[in-house]
Amino acid sequence: MNEHTPTPTEALPGAGNGLPSYLEQSPAVRERFAQLQQRKVILEVRDLQKRYKSLQGETEALRNINFQVHRREFVCVIGPSGCGKSTLIRILAGLEKHTAGDVLLDGQPVTGPGRDRGMVFQGYSLFPWLTVKRNVMFGPLMNGHSRDSAEREARLWLDMVNLGKFADAYPHQLSGGMRQRVAIARALVNEPRILLMDEPFGALDAQTRAKMQRHLLKIWRNLDITVLFITHDLDEAIYLADRILVLKANPGEVQEVIEVPVPRPRSPEQFSTPEFRATKARLEALIHPPEAQGEEEAEGEDALPEKIIRFTNVGDNVE
Ligand SMILES: Nc1ncnc2c1ncn2[C@@H]1O[C@H](COP(=O)(O)OP(=O)(O)OP(=O)(O)O)[C@@H](O)[C@H]1O
Ligand SMILES: [Mg+2]
Repeated sequence: MNEHTPTPTEALPGAGNGLPSYLEQSPAVRERFAQLQQRKVILEVRDLQKRYKSLQGETEALRNINFQVHRREFVCVIGPSGCGKSTLIRILAGLEKHTAGDVLLDGQPVTGPGRDRGMVFQGYSLFPWLTVKRNVMFGPLMNGHSRDSAEREARLWLDMVNLGKFADAYPHQLSGGMRQRVAIARALVNEPRILLMDEPFGALDAQTRAKMQRHLLKIWRNLDITVLFITHDLDEAIYLADRILVLKANPGEVQEVIEVPVPRPRSPEQFSTPEFRATKARLEALIHPPEAQGEEEAEGEDALPEKIIRFTNVGDNVE
C-alpha cells in the first residue's frame, strides 16, 4: 500500500553522492522491520480523502491516502506546508470528518474523539487556570476516576516526565519544554493506544527540542504506545521514526514511505553516520527538489515591491 518500490538506480550502492543508498539496511535493521511487520496493525488508513469547501472554492487537502501502523511503531509524517499533515492527524483524532475512505483503529472505524487516542499539539493546550497536577487529573476525573485515584495517576505521569516537583505550579510558571512535557503526561494518563503529535516541539529552541526528543524516545521505549508524529524537521523525523511517511502537496498524497535504516537505540552521534545522511539526502530530494527551490527564489525576488527595496538604499554598496 503506497510502499515505495525501489527503482534500479536507487538500489545501487553509492547513489551518486558518496553515500550508501538509504534503502540499504544492516541485517539487524532488516530483522527489526521484519518483526515490526509481524505485529498487529493498530491503525489502518484506506483510500482517505478530504475536501474542504469554502467561499474561495474547494480544496482537496488529502487524496488517496493509504497506510498502516503496527503496534509500538513510531511513524513520522513530513511534507511541505499545506500538504495536509494537520488535516490527517485531526481526522485520525476524530476532530475532523473525512470526505471518503476509512480510518480504523484496532479494526474499529473512527467516528469521533476517544480516549484511545492522545493528542499533543504545537501550541500549549493546557488549561492556564489549573495547576499542572489538575491539568493532568482532568482526563481521569472526566473518565469517572475518584479524586484520589486521579491524583495518584497524575503524580505517576508527572514523575514519568520528570515534573513531579512542579505538580502545584501553574502553566505560566513553566518553560515551553516543561509545558509540552505536561501536555504529554496529560495525553498519556488516559492510557491511549496511540499518541498523535502535531509538531509538538516546533516552538521550542534547538537545545530544548533535542532534550524533548530524547525524553520522548525514553518514554516510548518503556510503554506499549504507538506514535504518529508530524514534523517539519528532517533530522527530527530520522532520529525518532521507524518509518517516515512523506507527503506532497496539492493535493496531499503519499509520495513515499521510508524505512529508516538507522539502528536503534538512537543517539545524537548517529546524525553524522552514512545511513542517517543518506536518508536525509533522500528526504531533501523529495521535499525540496532543486528546480522548485530555484523557482521560489526567483519568484520571491521579482515579487518584492519597490517601496520595500527603497529602504535598502543607504548610499553605499554594502549588502
Ligand atoms: N478548515 C479549513 N477550511 C478550508 N481549508 C482548509 C481548512 N483546514 C485546512 N485547509 C486547507 O487544507 C490544506 C492542508 O492544510 P493543513 O493545515 O492540513 O496543512 P499542513 O500540512 O498541516 O500545513 P503546515 O505544515 O503549514 O502545518 C491547505 O490547503 C489548507 O488551506
Ligand atoms: Mg499543520
